[in-house]
Amino acid sequence: MTDSFPILGFDHLEFYVGNARQAASFYETFFKFTNTAYRGLETGSRKVASYVMEQGKIRLVLSTALNSDHPIARSVLKHGDHVAVIALQVPNVVDAYQHVTARGAISAERNSAGIAVIPPTLAEDESGLLHYAAIHAYGDVILKFVDRQDYRGVFAPQFQPRHSVQPGSYGVAPCANREAGLQTIDHLVGNVERGAMEHWVKFFADTMGFQLLVHFDDAAISTEYSALMSKVVQDGSGQIKLPINEPALGEGKSQIQEYLEYHQGPGVQHIAYSTHNIIETVTKLQQAGVEFLHVPTPYYKELEARIGKIDESIERLAELGILVDRDREGYLLQIFTQPVEDRPTLFFEIIQRHGAQSFGEGNFKALFEAIEREQALRGNL
Ligand code: FE2
Repeated sequence: MTDSFPILGFDHLEFYVGNARQAASFYETFFKFTNTAYRGLETGSRKVASYVMEQGKIRLVLSTALNSDHPIARSVLKHGDHVAVIALQVPNVVDAYQHVTARGAISAERNSAGIAVIPPTLAEDESGLLHYAAIHAYGDVILKFVDRQDYRGVFAPQFQPRHSVQPGSYGVAPCANREAGLQTIDHLVGNVERGAMEHWVKFFADTMGFQLLVHFDDAAISTEYSALMSKVVQDGSGQIKLPINEPALGEGKSQIQEYLEYHQGPGVQHIAYSTHNIIETVTKLQQAGVEFLHVPTPYYKELEARIGKIDESIERLAELGILVDRDREGYLLQIFTQPVEDRPTLFFEIIQRHGAQSFGEGNFKALFEAIEREQALRGNL
């Protein structure tokens, strides 16, 4: 069977932030990314400064507006620092854009930050040709298609490499051998309004041929207070996994509802980074100061009975707060950070898969109870 909408993988995720230089320093210090490229006033970019941060195959771009009258500034005013662009590599941008717009992707409107879709565009400099286009996804999130096969530059026109910091220059110093072992974007989760999950599942299916991978209803993943529904869609290559959550009715405020209120609308809730050695990765991140959700000790007492034998030491997992789940294909290890903003919105997951292709459903209850304890501390339960 041929893939009706071939995707080569994630190209990058772009965050809109209030202060990109400080955000770059945060992702370098805490999550061990390296700043590889920069654009700003010094490189001829008069309106936006951006820092490209890389680790493994993960590429984040942190962008800030240099003026309040810029869509990035308006977007940050509304949402706080947030994931604004999900960029996918495709073999042909014109084909991709025509394919999705012919199947209902919105091609003419602006989102609430005033950001318009981008028809197929060619950017060119001495490093070659970069093709891209963009459509709207949930909330104010932009879905970008990128083809960099004919581009040899560090990231895009206007960007300059940041392999070394010149004396007197600003920016983030690269630090070799300091990575934490983050490898790829395993999955990327969106929160949408109650009743909107089905619409977005259909959107990804209709426009890009994504298939429904898993479905959790509120009965499976509700606690005393919080409830949500979730469906996971995946592209034909299996590389792009996009769970979509909506709040369900519970006794208290769903964690998804809390997100929607503080993010002021739908958006990216968490990004899961894969690692080949979660114990090493989490040890490094904790030493760097990354704060993770606390897991109650009884979780580990019942673990071996629930999960069976695993390669890792359960004592070590308990010390670090790493969760384990098993499905028919194997097991997985995962851990969740605290929100990385003052608003209780975006957080990260670190995941190591030993065959398992699921998302840790067996941990949802323990996990949600941990999230609710934090939510109660914020006075939002
Ligand atoms: Fe996840």
